Amino acid sequence: MPGVVIVGAQFGDEGKGKMTDYLASRADCVVRYQGGNNAGHTVVIGGHEFRLHIIPSGIFYPGKVCVIGNGMVIDPEALFQELDDLLNQRLKLARLCISDRAHLLLPYHVRLDEAEENCRGAERIGTTKRGIGPAYTDKVARLGFRTSELLEPGWEKRLEAMALEKNHILKQLYGSEGDEPEQVIDWMRRYAERMRPFLTDTSLVLAELAAEGKHILFEGAQGTMLDIDHGTYPFVTSSSPTAGGACIGAGVGPTAVNLVLGVCKAYLTRVGEGNFPTELDGPDGEEIRKRGREFGTTTGRARRCGWIDLVMLRYAARVNGLNGLLITKLDVLDSFPAIRLCNAYTCSGGTIREFPASQRLLQTFKPVYEDLEGWQQDTSGVRRYEDLPAAARRFIERIGEVTGLPVMAISVGPDREQTIMLQELSRQAHK
Ligand code: GDP
Ligand code: IMO
Ligand code: MG
Repeated sequence: MPGVVIVGAQFGDEGKGKMTDYLASRADCVVRYQGGNNAGHTVVIGGHEFRLHIIPSGIFYPGKVCVIGNGMVIDPEALFQELDDLLNQRLKLARLCISDRAHLLLPYHVRLDEAEENCRGAERIGTTKRGIGPAYTDKVARLGFRTSELLEPGWEKRLEAMALEKNHILKQLYGSEGDEPEQVIDWMRRYAERMRPFLTDTSLVLAELAAEGKHILFEGAQGTMLDIDHGTYPFVTSSSPTAGGACIGAGVGPTAVNLVLGVCKAYLTRVGEGNFPTELDGPDGEEIRKRGREFGTTTGRARRCGWIDLVMLRYAARVNGLNGLLITKLDVLDSFPAIRLCNAYTCSGGTIREFPASQRLLQTFKPVYEDLEGWQQDTSGVRRYEDLPAAARRFIERIGEVTGLPVMAISVGPDREQTIMLQELSRQAHK
């Protein structure tokens, strides 16, 4: 598997961290290509849970390379907190490289995110308030602060000017306070020295690895439906989690990608605002939340739960060019006597089979469900596809049929070991 992209096929939190860690055993390098510490990727190894926000989920393999790509926005305080947490546990880690073209997420971005959200009132996006939107806004407005600036003299002057300008905006537009520019500079100084040795042209690192025939895994954050172009705009994040984003955010061409895998839950969750047709308000939603422990890894917010939406998955298959699906959290549905899959919507009597651009329209859509029998058996100990209950296999096969995608792996628990690898992926992975 020379170049494999792993993308979230839903609204994030699909289990990308788990699947990346699992597949990283066969790769030489793992790259995060977008987002920042709005992400929360959980990896469970031997019952021990690790939560990653900026560092790629391949970090637990010493001898491999982990890359923080140019497409990411990096809060240095959050990064080093995360790294120190890992180092304090005396873990042997992969080699970490940070792109010299990635953008820094600075304290004023966090203040602006908070102020903008408060100002939106009922129109709020429900961001993670980590400063992601304002950091990407600065990047696109050509006002961003790149990591490589820390390698050059005089960065303090520009940071001072930027901090002053943001304070003006915070005060005049939002009536809120910013940090003193001197404080922001001191804060940056604390991390600048430590960051320098990690900085490099990571596109070159990847090109050299690829030239040696090494295998690279591109780890997406967030999910297709949170993509700035293809997601449920404006209830999206400010980057491109979809597969195309991997090339831009890692500095490789499309020819470096051989396989694109979409991670999806056996149901659907969303955190933050913006509707989705299969959302469940009643006891079924509660049961999923409880069994799936559906509370945000980053913010602790309760995730909204619903049945799997195959219209959405078909859309994700198209915009990412998916080659296959990795289905997670099958075990969460173990207790249900019946399981629903949405494969169309209705609106004013008509049937809709394609995901719409308009959020207003989506709000009026009702899901059309297909009901399947549940299996009501514990699947968390199953390791071979043929040992799954017949009803569970039927459910998986139906997802494959409706989306037109091969299901390449199934996850039946949070632990690295609780994974059923289907033959198809074993073949692809050993190519
Ligand atoms: P990510 O953001 O896509 O990496 O996903 P998160 O880590 O935010 O959320 C997924 C949650 O589900 C984490 O708590 C995982 O440990 C957990 N998880 C992953 N796969 C499975 C699974 O197959 N079964 C169960 N029960 N939990 C899982
Ligand atoms: P991982 O990588 C789920 C959501 C927020 C909000 C919207 C915009 O763990 O799957 P932002 O802070 O990015 O401006 O918020 O996107 N969101 C996520 N939801 N998983 C994530 O990451 C998310 N990152 C952002 O809740 O609705
Ligand atoms: Mg997450």
